[in-house]
Amino acid sequence: MQLTWLGHSCVLLSGTKKVLVDPFIEGGSVTDTNPDIVAITHGHSDHMGEAVSMAKKTVAISEIAKYLKNKGVPVESMNIGGTLVVDGISFTMTTGVHSTSIEEAGLGFSGGTAAGFVIGMDGIRVYHAGDTALFSDMKLIGELYHPDVALLPIGGRYTMGVTEAMMAANFIGAKTIIPIHYNTWDRIAADPQVLKKAVERTTDLKVTVLQPGESLELLP
Ligand code: NI
Ligand code: MN
Repeated sequence: MQLTWLGHSCVLLSGTKKVLVDPFIEGGSVTDTNPDIVAITHGHSDHMGEAVSMAKKTVAISEIAKYLKNKGVPVESMNIGGTLVVDGISFTMTTGVHSTSIEEAGLGFSGGTAAGFVIGMDGIRVYHAGDTALFSDMKLIGELYHPDVALLPIGGRYTMGVTEAMMAANFIGAKTIIPIHYNTWDRIAADPQVLKKAVERTTDLKVTVLQPGESLELLP
């Protein structure tokens, strides 16, 4: 499987199927990635992104799924703690400690709660944390689902920063940590090399810092 960080929180997993998480990139479009399945972590516009205009099969929490269905998007709804298999790809929805609303719908569209996903494809499990604070149940995510890769926000201000992500990496125990949700804008500026040095000095985990558009090959 190939994992491509398209920027911000947007990640494309290409294997048996193409799965796109959080279809938003700043100043660009993700439509030409042509995914089979889109997964949305929460309703903020920097995560919902092009979900409506792409109108691909979309996995989302019940409240967002209802909204998307109403917009003509084919949806698979689920909720925190559940696992859903779509076209052979498994999606487990994990909690995110973060606010949410369906921003493009205007005030009053709550969007349920913020979530993350553990996505299983081709014998590899990838945990995409979405937007979240550090929470100690990340240990449970590690113990239960044994993700091979963890995508963690490090930009601070709206999510974990580098310090919290260091502890998150320890809680989850995924062998490969990939920082996301930073340097998109000045207000979420962060240095991923600080995370890399700290984690690799103190654990046997590896932090892979990707550039937007860069891919990593993952073997089971
Ligand atoms: Ni958010
Ligand atoms: Mn965000």
